[in-house]
Amino acid sequence: MKKPVIAIDGYSSTGKSSISKIIADKLGLIHMDTGALYRGITWYALQHCLDEKGTIDLNRLFSSLHQIELEFKNHDGILILYLNNTDISKEIRSNEVSDHVSLVAKQKEVRDFLLQSQRSLAEKGGVIMDGRDIGTVVLPDADYKFFLTASIDERTNRRFLELSGLGIQADREQVKQNLIERDKIDSEREIAPLRKADDAIIIDNSALTKEETIKLILSYIQNF
Ligand code: DC
Repeated sequence: MKKPVIAIDGYSSTGKSSISKIIADKLGLIHMDTGALYRGITWYALQHCLDEKGTIDLNRLFSSLHQIELEFKNHDGILILYLNNTDISKEIRSNEVSDHVSLVAKQKEVRDFLLQSQRSLAEKGGVIMDGRDIGTVVLPDADYKFFLTASIDERTNRRFLELSGLGIQADREQVKQNLIERDKIDSEREIAPLRKADDAIIIDNSALTKEETIKLILSYIQNF
C-alpha cells in the first residue's frame, strides 16, 4: 500500500517539526523540516553575502544559490542539516538567523530554488513535510493537511525553552517580538504566504501537550 503524504503547516513555534518527526517515526515516513532549508540559506547569506553596512545583499545571494548544497543526514534517527558538507544544525537556530530568515524566505529566487527538491522528495509517497506553504503550494495534493496554531504566549514559551535547551541565551520579550514579526512577514508576503489550505484541518494546540497533539493528528490518519 502506498504510504501517505502529509503536509503540516502553521505558525512559528507550534511544534510542527518535533511533532512531524515523531509521527514520521511512528508511521515509517521520511520527515522534511522545510523551515531548516530556509534557515540554511539565511545562514549562508549571513556568512557570504553581507554588504558594507552588514545587511544581506540579496542579489549576491541569488547569484550564489547554485553554490549552495543543503542535505539532511541521518545521525541515529536525528536529521542533521549540512550546508556544503558542514553541519549547521546549531547555527540555523541562532537568533541572528531567526531575525533574518523571513526576509530571505520571501524572495521568489529562494523559494523557486527550494521548491523542486521538496516536491521530488514526496513523489514516491511516505513523507511528512512541515513548513508554511506545504499544503497550499509545495504539495497541494497531499493526502492529509494540518494547520497548527497556538497562542503567542504559549509559542514564546516553547521557543524560549528550545533556545535554552540549545544553550542559546535569549530574552523572552525579544523571542516574542521575533515570532510576531516573522509570522507577519510570512503571512503578508506575495509569494506562497503562510495560510491555511482550504482543505486543511486546523489544530489549536495552546492547551495540548506534544503527545496530545500527535494523538489528535494520528486520529485523522487512517488505513496506513
Ligand atoms: O519553521 P521555522 O521557524 O524553522 O521556519 C523559519 C522561517 O522559514 C519562517 O519564518 C518562514 C520560512 N519558511 C517558509 O517561508 N516556508 C516554509 N515552507 C518553511 C519555512
